[in-house]
Amino acid sequence: MSPASEITQDLDLAAATLRRGGLVAFPTETVYGLGADALNAQAVARIFEAKGRPHFDPLIVHIADEQGLARIAADCPDVARRLIGRFWPGPLTLVLRKRPEVPDLVTAGLDTVGVRLPDHPLARELIARCGRPLAAPSANRFGCISPTRAEHVAEQLEDRIDLILDGGPCRVGVESTVLDVTGSRARLLRPGGVPQEDLEAEIGPLEVETRIAAGTGAPAPGMLERHYAPTTRIVRWTPSLRIPAGQRAGVLAFREPPAGIDFQARAILSPRGDLAEAAAGLFAAMRALDAAGLDVIVGCDFPDEGLGRAINDRLRRASAPELPTA
Ligand code: TXA
Ligand code: MG
Repeated sequence: MSPASEITQDLDLAAATLRRGGLVAFPTETVYGLGADALNAQAVARIFEAKGRPHFDPLIVHIADEQGLARIAADCPDVARRLIGRFWPGPLTLVLRKRPEVPDLVTAGLDTVGVRLPDHPLARELIARCGRPLAAPSANRFGCISPTRAEHVAEQLEDRIDLILDGGPCRVGVESTVLDVTGSRARLLRPGGVPQEDLEAEIGPLEVETRIAAGTGAPAPGMLERHYAPTTRIVRWTPSLRIPAGQRAGVLAFREPPAGIDFQARAILSPRGDLAEAAAGLFAAMRALDAAGLDVIVGCDFPDEGLGRAINDRLRRASAPELPTA
């Protein structure tokens, strides 16, 4: 077991740690990632260990510039090129056919790989200085809330990783949009920081994946239902919702809390109605409510447009019942 992981701003130390196979949490514009050298299978194995993440869930590979793509992806279809021109650097992960050098562990044995060029100066400088692409999931324990500050990473992964590079709070606050561009039509696997509408304005209608793959026993990549979850139970608000007497309830809502319920704690994410502001505060608000000693958190639906879709997706997953263990 390594000593308590240091929180640092030393990019050279972070790059050197990654080059010798270490684990470094680093900031991106979406959430903090838990990075390892993507071409070093042993280092990548440590990510799964530290997170307690199942090996069937593939990782995203982060690159410092567009040239880095050729080391990872076997090809880049026209539709991907258009999206890269418009949305990179930024919160868009493209699923492409992989090159053989990318270890199977990174892609969970798939012949595709998720690639992203983050829009965060520290992330890109780190990748450039270490000279390797970085495999990085969100830097939280598996199934828990994604971190948007260095301290969140320390709370969950302290002692399990080598270093935390501190870049302050994340600007976007929800994870990247994951889009599979290997087929004849682009398929949205996870709503995220680039809204579906913006993608469709560029390349036309997307296919949207919404369900756990039927009958296979294992969820399709990115489709794990229970996710992003605090330990306090989350229920979705409906007009008929009643809180039993004696129970302490908190609320997480967009502009104002629903009337008629006496909440002990409130997280109103954007009173002025700005979805970007709401997304940026979502995970920190979930953490704060989780720490407030409540019996239940009431999650209200956000407008189902733009970043609201990513927020609703995270709330839906946080409130889903536990995955069956069998
Ligand atoms: O914003 C983000 O995407 C953050 C930052 C750190 O970049 N990362 C992140 O990673 O959210 P993670 O591992 O928590 O989520 C990655 C998602 C998973 O749902 C995974 O199944 C999907 O991307 N994914 C990765 N590679 C894939 C592939 N080859 N095919 C399908 N889905 C893939
Ligand atoms: Mg995650």
